[in-house]
Amino acid sequence: MIYQVYVRSFLDSTGDGIGDLAGVRAGLPYLKKLGVDGIWLSPFYPSPQHDHGYDVADYCDVDPLFGDLDEFDLLVGAARRLGIKVLLDIVPNHCSSEHPWFREALAAPPGSPARARFHFADGRGPDDAEPPNNWHSMFGGPAWSRVTEPDGRPGQWYLHMFAPEQPDWNWRNPEIAAEFERILRFWLGRGIDGFRIDVAAGLFKHPELPDSDDPEADARTRDSVNPLAWNQPEVHDVWRRWRSICEEYTERDGCERLLVGEVSVPTAREHAQYVRPDELHQAFFFDLLSAPWDPDAFQKVISEAMQDIAGTGSTVTWVLNNHDQVRTVTRYGEPATEGSGLGAARARAAALLMLALPGAAYIYQGEELGLPEVVDLPDDVLTDPIFRRTGSRARIRDGCRVPLPWSGQASPFGFTSGEESAKPWLPQPEYFAEYATDRALADTRSFWHLYRDGLQLRAALPQLGEGTLRWLDSPPGVLAFERGDDLVCAVNFGTAPTPAPVSGTPLLASGPCPPGVLSGSTAAWWIRS
Ligand code: NOJ
Repeated sequence: MIYQVYVRSFLDSTGDGIGDLAGVRAGLPYLKKLGVDGIWLSPFYPSPQHDHGYDVADYCDVDPLFGDLDEFDLLVGAARRLGIKVLLDIVPNHCSSEHPWFREALAAPPGSPARARFHFADGRGPDDAEPPNNWHSMFGGPAWSRVTEPDGRPGQWYLHMFAPEQPDWNWRNPEIAAEFERILRFWLGRGIDGFRIDVAAGLFKHPELPDSDDPEADARTRDSVNPLAWNQPEVHDVWRRWRSICEEYTERDGCERLLVGEVSVPTAREHAQYVRPDELHQAFFFDLLSAPWDPDAFQKVISEAMQDIAGTGSTVTWVLNNHDQVRTVTRYGEPATEGSGLGAARARAAALLMLALPGAAYIYQGEELGLPEVVDLPDDVLTDPIFRRTGSRARIRDGCRVPLPWSGQASPFGFTSGEESAKPWLPQPEYFAEYATDRALADTRSFWHLYRDGLQLRAALPQLGEGTLRWLDSPPGVLAFERGDDLVCAVNFGTAPTPAPVSGTPLLASGPCPPGVLSGSTAAWWIRS
């Protein structure tokens, strides 16, 4: 079980209102108590922060906002002493427009080797005024921006599948592969345990960059559905190479390294190709996260994953929340300002379901506190480039990135701790007081205790974690499955109680469950006697 740390919102040690690496180090004992196996750190590299660090200007350093390399080494050392693995977020599809190689490309003429590291192309139509093709950016608007040539004239266009400040690398140029090997070795040499790979179905584009039949597909769904821009076969060679680099390090010191990809592809079968034995160890399976609160929808995605991914011998990697998605408590139907309603009950049930499934699980900071999405942030504090580019609040991601509440009754809730603390970089609502970690730890009915208890059992019981599942017959509205020979997990998606599939008191339940009863919007685990 890996815990995603969104560094700028975890804990601020310097009082500037932005979380940092020293803050993460200070929070490690909290994470140890929760029972995490490892942490994934969101990007902390030098960056102009147009997309909160997913626009990397230097892949081998720490942005002063978050600390420095010495602080990074201290964090890795402290995590190792606590037995917590550390994964970094690597961003190989694109860099920042401030990256020295992109600046060099802007200063160089069309056709130069410096431009060949990116996708530069001439425009179409009179005066080359139209982009080279009709692709859309994932963040809205065209996927191309036009540059001004060094002589001051309007010039070529460059491709960016995300914001214009995030030019896409040209992975058909071997120099890029070599540079990323250097970057991998830089961090592996500093003792990290692996990487979360951003946009792992990206990197390569169709070699001719032709027009798409459905140019708005990407902007519409945020799924990777422009088959010319994503999921090209060549990308698998990169993951094979990265896997072999990881194995080199393992051979040297006996410690396994982990590659987990952010893989958005249309089907579980295509997804499975990314986790073949010589490619990535894990790839987030987002279909569970996208499923509505409905037993048939959940059963369908779980069955597909078991058949098409686990069926090939790979691990399924489950996730319900991350820094790009509306938090479960809100997604499953919670009014944003209430903490104990239906959305919360369902989010608790979903957590127990996920922790009972065969495979790996990732949780996103604040999920263990049951934090709701902050839905009423005013426009002038929003930072998501999607908002800037589309003007739409529909898909904005700031609401799940609000800094964590740690203690106290008022913002900053212990998040920032300098002498003269600045305000948290996004405002925390007053109701965050009831979610603060100190309250969560003190209340055995909290989300935190549910996650902690679930993780403890997951670590202790051989039935959980790796393995298979067997669906059990269950009444309408209920999903039930067995792990090993005797562990039963059942989830009641309805609101009315139903008979429990196993008599006796559950081992763990997401809500009150009298013996023999599975309450509405509740999940429970039992050991059959
Ligand atoms: C996926 C990351 O999770 C998201 O936050 C980022 O904006 C895009 N990739 C682009 O790097």
